Amino acid sequence: MPSSPGAQLIADPAAFQRALAAWYRANARVLPWRETPSLYKTVVSEFMLQQTQVKTVLPYFARWLAEFPDFPALAAASEARVLRLWEGLGYYSRARNLHRLAQALARLPVPPRTPETWRELPGVGPYTAAAITSIAFGEPVACVDGNVVRILARLAADATPHRDSASASRAFAPLAGALVPAVNPGDHNQAMMELGATVCTRQNPRCPDCPVRTFCAAAAQGDPESYPRLVAKKMEQVAVTRVWCQGKHGLLLHLTAKGARRFASMHELPTAEQAGLTAAAASRGKLLAKKQRGITRYQITESIHRVTPPRGKLPVGLVWVPLAALDQITLSGPHRRWITELLK
Ligand code: ADE
Repeated sequence: MPSSPGAQLIADPAAFQRALAAWYRANARVLPWRETPSLYKTVVSEFMLQQTQVKTVLPYFARWLAEFPDFPALAAASEARVLRLWEGLGYYSRARNLHRLAQALARLPVPPRTPETWRELPGVGPYTAAAITSIAFGEPVACVDGNVVRILARLAADATPHRDSASASRAFAPLAGALVPAVNPGDHNQAMMELGATVCTRQNPRCPDCPVRTFCAAAAQGDPESYPRLVAKKMEQVAVTRVWCQGKHGLLLHLTAKGARRFASMHELPTAEQAGLTAAAASRGKLLAKKQRGITRYQITESIHRVTPPRGKLPVGLVWVPLAALDQITLSGPHRRWITELLK
């Protein structure tokens, strides 16, 4: 990292903090967890906002607060209901962890206040601990996520190639920490997130509208889009064959066991293997749909083939779900969309 821009910011962060804070006061989006904030709203919003954009979160946040208005209501809910309300947001371990976190808080006399103690709770990593404790308790700790890395890499015109976003976050933690003010650190963190989401965007950053442009080495060079430098990740192709099996009892689905590490208690269209078939055998059935999606470094192609109902005992994990009951179960990822499409 060239020593000057980062070093200059660290030497006198006050001017940077003032410019950012004034901009945030005038430009902060009105968001439901910012009006009459509470610890509960902060925690729920931060869990929902992990890997997910604000506009996607908004309707989920409203439904969640209507059904679970506080930690005790959430702690008392069934896991099935928690997952059902989360359905479509993805990364379901977040929902399970949030549920367990509410139950863990119910056993404590008062909620913890420091980032270190929050990190001991389910689903709370460094970013979420910093966000919760800075926003709800005024702890002067920095949130460092992809948005913040992008801003800092541009401010410092940092040409280091970072292996992935986690190692970039670690590299920028000292600069991020040095910029956090002792007063209103939660607003500062939210201002950084807001700047990354609305002005210092990945593509076409709006430098003329940026409140901290005078501090930015990349804007001065005229090439903000070339930061941060991340080593391109190799994508891996994965093919999955799934079966569509409709019979007099409804639709055949795979239900992952309750204690499983991934997709616990969630339904999916079964893979050929789960249905006791080889991919080649299932592929002889009519191809009903071919779906592509990218998850982290995997490019997944899923082919859905019609097959006839298995004879005899169902393979482990398979269940018949009557079509009228599809609304009440939790389906993982895009499976509800696919099923709705195929039932038309
Ligand atoms: N992303 C993560 N936390 C956020 C917050 N509090 N406001 C807006 N975007 C966010």
